[in-house]
Amino acid sequence: GLVNTRELFQKAVKGGYAIPAYNFNNLEQLQAIVLACAETSSPVIVQVSKGARDYANQTMLRYMALGAVQMARELGSNIPICLHLDHGDSFELCKSCVDSGFSSVMIDGSHLAYEENVALTRQVVEYAHKYDVSVEGELGVLAGIEDEVQADHSTYTKPEEVEDFVKKTGVDSLAISIGTSHGAYKFKLKDGEEVPPLRFDILEEVERRIPGFPIVLHGASSVVQEYVQLINQYGGKMDGAVGVPEGQLRKAAASAVCKINIDSDGRLAVTAKVREFLAKNPGEFDPRKYLGAARKELITLIKHKNQVVLGSAGKA
Ligand code: G3H
Ligand code: 13P
Ligand code: NA
Ligand code: ZN
Repeated sequence: GLVNTRELFQKAVKGGYAIPAYNFNNLEQLQAIVLACAETSSPVIVQVSKGARDYANQTMLRYMALGAVQMARELGSNIPICLHLDHGDSFELCKSCVDSGFSSVMIDGSHLAYEENVALTRQVVEYAHKYDVSVEGELGVLAGIEDEVQADHSTYTKPEEVEDFVKKTGVDSLAISIGTSHGAYKFKLKDGEEVPPLRFDILEEVERRIPGFPIVLHGASSVVQEYVQLINQYGGKMDGAVGVPEGQLRKAAASAVCKINIDSDGRLAVTAKVREFLAKNPGEFDPRKYLGAARKELITLIKHKNQVVLGSAGKA
């Protein structure tokens, strides 16, 4: 069946790698994740956002994840698979996911005042742990695509809060804000300017205060430029899309960061290949053809992440 994150994270922190957390909301994405992780022997977290739940139906996604476990076994692979709620925003939503068989949930109270975040997170932990479901909390707000990341230090995680937060809430892992952000436009760069490095000083201070505690990195897509170029070449318009360089993620994966969230890179791969396929094959109208091309690219992308970026390949 599905596993929670506890053992996965213990091994990852000790082993100096990170478990990939891939978002999914459709069949082809999940097939690609399972196949690529089975073939690279990587443990994996498949995660469902609130938006994915609205799009595809929570029950459908839950049974798809169970199908993914079965599919992996039939491929002869014993990789652990965790089904996780991404960015849960209320106790009721987290409870609903626990009740319907998710093995892990995130309660994202990062936008709340500190004590409210503690109280809400604590409430979710108390419920989820009764069912052996692991809980991810968050401290610090990731910069939105509108924000000037470098300018606004106030949203970074405050290391002086982390020890108190994990003690009071009992969370199993903690998402922190060290300069990543969601989506395909992570940094606004002027001409010739390079992507600013993540705030590893904050990560180090967090690690010093809660040694060996599992840390999570959201907004960790690299925004693969090859895909951005394909999208622009075949009718799209994604100027200025930029993400976190792979070297930064490799460095993070070697630390107490043991879960790295990737959604946008998968979206870019799918969109690039669908656009390319349809442009080159204007007479095709079978979705299996263009979604098949997208799925093939997703498999390549995920294998690369597991093998070269997160170091999770061979760890199952
Ligand atoms: O955290 C953001 C994830 O990429 C999910 O995005 O809310 O559009 O499904 P979404
Ligand atoms: P990206 O947008 O960088 O892929 O981040 C995904 C994420 O953090 C999901 O929770
Ligand atoms: Na790690
Ligand atoms: Zn996120």
